[in-house]
Amino acid sequence: MQNITVLGAGVMGHGAAQLFAQARKNVRIRARRESSLEKAKELMTNSLKIMVDKGMLTENDMQEALSRITYTTDLHEAIRDADFVFESIPEDLEKKLDTYEIIENNVSDKTIITSNTSTFPLEELTQKAKHPERFIITHFFNPPQLVPIVEIVKVEHTDENIVKTTYNLMKEIGKSPVVLKKEITGFIVNRVQVAMLREAFNLMEQGVATAEDIDIAMKGSMGFKWGFCGPMESQDLAGLQTTKAMVGNILQDLSNTREVPSFLKEMVENDQLGIRTNQGFYKYDDNGEQAIHTRDDHFLDLLKLLQRK
Ligand SMILES: NC(=O)c1ccc[n+]([C@@H]2O[C@H](COP(=O)([O-])OP(=O)(O)OC[C@H]3O[C@@H](n4cnc5c(N)ncnc54)[C@H](O)[C@@H]3O)[C@@H](O)[C@H]2O)c1
Repeated sequence: MQNITVLGAGVMGHGAAQLFAQARKNVRIRARRESSLEKAKELMTNSLKIMVDKGMLTENDMQEALSRITYTTDLHEAIRDADFVFESIPEDLEKKLDTYEIIENNVSDKTIITSNTSTFPLEELTQKAKHPERFIITHFFNPPQLVPIVEIVKVEHTDENIVKTTYNLMKEIGKSPVVLKKEITGFIVNRVQVAMLREAFNLMEQGVATAEDIDIAMKGSMGFKWGFCGPMESQDLAGLQTTKAMVGNILQDLSNTREVPSFLKEMVENDQLGIRTNQGFYKYDDNGEQAIHTRDDHFLDLLKLLQRK
């Protein structure tokens, strides 16, 4: 697995390309527009520079990583000789299916084709595939060059060698992969995240806490613990008799709504999309540039700690 193709140079694509290049892979990244590639290069360079400033990479490592990435707007050129194609184009089924058709018609039978989809089942992604057994989902988290987890999703017809090779590749590039035992909407992390968000939104709607207070409470509790001690381990440490009582007493009072809250729909309708429009739960004046910088700076410190473990 030496030649890696990354399709899509957006939020996720550029981070994944950087990650593969840092792991000494030959990376080709493809976007439809030159301007997207230029932006991706700038973002990767900035991200690597911060790692150098923090002593996680040398200047030489950074230059070498950058030199391993080639940029193209030509899909055929991008997938030529690819061992592993990582598709990270927008979450649009038709666009993904059209792209897979071109990939399958132009790569060798040994090429592994992966999608970074957050929502589409593998069965849907492979509905027109000639070789569905070599497709697999590798679901990264933003920013992919920093967040350790990759959820690997297979289905019954997925070739077990492809699962193994993909798992090993994720380990090789420094990730913490988890292979789901069966496919389910939202995989592991987003299911748990949405369950928590449902309750956080409920607390806001009931006037119990502001968005800011919820962030303070969660950063100082689960946020503090979970990088090193996951939710299940934490219960062992607390005592399962306490967990049983807590779950029993609180569960009946939690929100079980299946609707997106109306305040969230209104925010989106009013173009309050977060950093993209400078207004979300918080206000920004630089499209979140400072917020992203601060986040990545903290994430890198945390990554250094995790790597020392
Ligand atoms: N953003 C996240 O936090 C996140 C997290 C995990 C997974 N994902 C998944 O990753 C994938 C990419 O998401 P993103 O947030 O990077 O999107 P994005 O919109 O930031 O980037 C998508 C890129 O694909 C390009 N593109 C658009 N249409 C295309 C087409 N027809 N063919 C080829 N390229 C095309 C765009 O120009 C852009 O460079 C999606 O499947 C998404 O669900 C996103």
